[in-house]
Amino acid sequence: MTRSLAVQGGSPVRTRPWPLWPQSAPGAVRALEGVLTSGRWSISGPYQGTESQERRFARAFAAYNGVEHCVPAASGTASLMLALEACGIGAGDEVIVPGLSWVASGSTVLGVNAVPVFCDVDPDTLCLDPVAVESALTERTKAIVVVHLYSAVADMDALRALAERHGLPLIEDCAQAHGAEYHGVKVGALATAGTFSMQHSKVLTSGEGGAVITRDAEFARRVEHLRADGRCLAGLPVDTGRMELVETGELMGSNRCVSEFQAALLVEQLGVLDEQNERRRRNAALLDELLADAGYRPQSTSAGTGNRTYYTYAARLPEGELTDVGLAAVTDALTAELGFPIASCYAPITRNRLYDPRSRGRFALGVQHESRIDPKGFDLPVCEEAARRTVTVHHAALLGDEGDMRDIAAAFAKVVRHGAQLTG
Ligand SMILES: Cc1ncc(COP(=O)(O)O)c(C=O)c1O
Repeated sequence: MTRSLAVQGGSPVRTRPWPLWPQSAPGAVRALEGVLTSGRWSISGPYQGTESQERRFARAFAAYNGVEHCVPAASGTASLMLALEACGIGAGDEVIVPGLSWVASGSTVLGVNAVPVFCDVDPDTLCLDPVAVESALTERTKAIVVVHLYSAVADMDALRALAERHGLPLIEDCAQAHGAEYHGVKVGALATAGTFSMQHSKVLTSGEGGAVITRDAEFARRVEHLRADGRCLAGLPVDTGRMELVETGELMGSNRCVSEFQAALLVEQLGVLDEQNERRRRNAALLDELLADAGYRPQSTSAGTGNRTYYTYAARLPEGELTDVGLAAVTDALTAELGFPIASCYAPITRNRLYDPRSRGRFALGVQHESRIDPKGFDLPVCEEAARRTVTVHHAALLGDEGDMRDIAAAFAKVVRHGAQLTG
């Protein structure tokens, strides 16, 4: 048999380079230099007579999302833990999370001494399935965390109705969905709180970073205290040289602050987010058509989604094709064709090798707690099926042009056409 696949020494579909990520916004260098010489590199440094970059970003990101409050934080992980604690979640409480997500969806719940209850996802959107949530509720359930995964927005009408019916806070994890909308409202603004990650790979990034947004002033005040060692920002003006953070003693916290460098960068990056999201959306629409022609099934999003965003483009392999080949062999073959990493869908968190509560002594809180957090007890058939058959493309590739999308589609079609070579 002729070995035509690049992974076996054949010619690749493409050798041209791909767009780089991250891409710095036009004003980024000047903004970072401004911080360098400002005399203030953190909100925990003394006030220097001008508004902190952290406050500037908080105001801009709150306005962007159409909410009153934003508290920047060190990471998406920190933001989730802050939001959970601000909801009053603590020892032994159950929190519903999707089984298909980055491991932080489980580890953050463990991190506040609570118990993650993993639920199955919808097979088309890959986001939390409201029916699965309903049947996982117990009298110990104290919150629901929904993740808008890859390029989808979850079924927020159903999840909000369910949370309201049961009097539960609902947290939207928007780490993968900055700028997406649902019935004209930005994600993160649809529930008790929204959390974001600004880690390197995200569509809005400062290398590391995060934020919690909310409409609720009291909730925001709790988040502020929790992320700044129990301090909150004073009302301006503050005398130059004085601390802007006030020690109220209201609520104990930990340091989860972003630096002024991160905040200054985020202000600039936010200015190019919509244009970049639009470019990804245009390219994804073309890819949808091309891949559907090749038999792939692109991830769909809930009815009501507007301004769909693409952190990752996900598609299911064609029905009946490549069934004897492991997904890793398929993604290796696609990667070799394109010179761009094509990845498998997440494994369900319950069997992700990065998720092992027993490896951390801090979660050894007694035999009963340990058996409640044991990930083996969850049955997640839809997550399992998605993990077997879904491939994903990072959004950097979607910043390219029409030719780039045609290359991706050509590689996807080629690997199906020559799939038999991967088994031989
Ligand atoms: C859905 C989701 N939640 C939370 C996080 C955690 O964010 P961070 O890496 O900034 O801590 C991530 C990061 O990839 C994520 O994808």
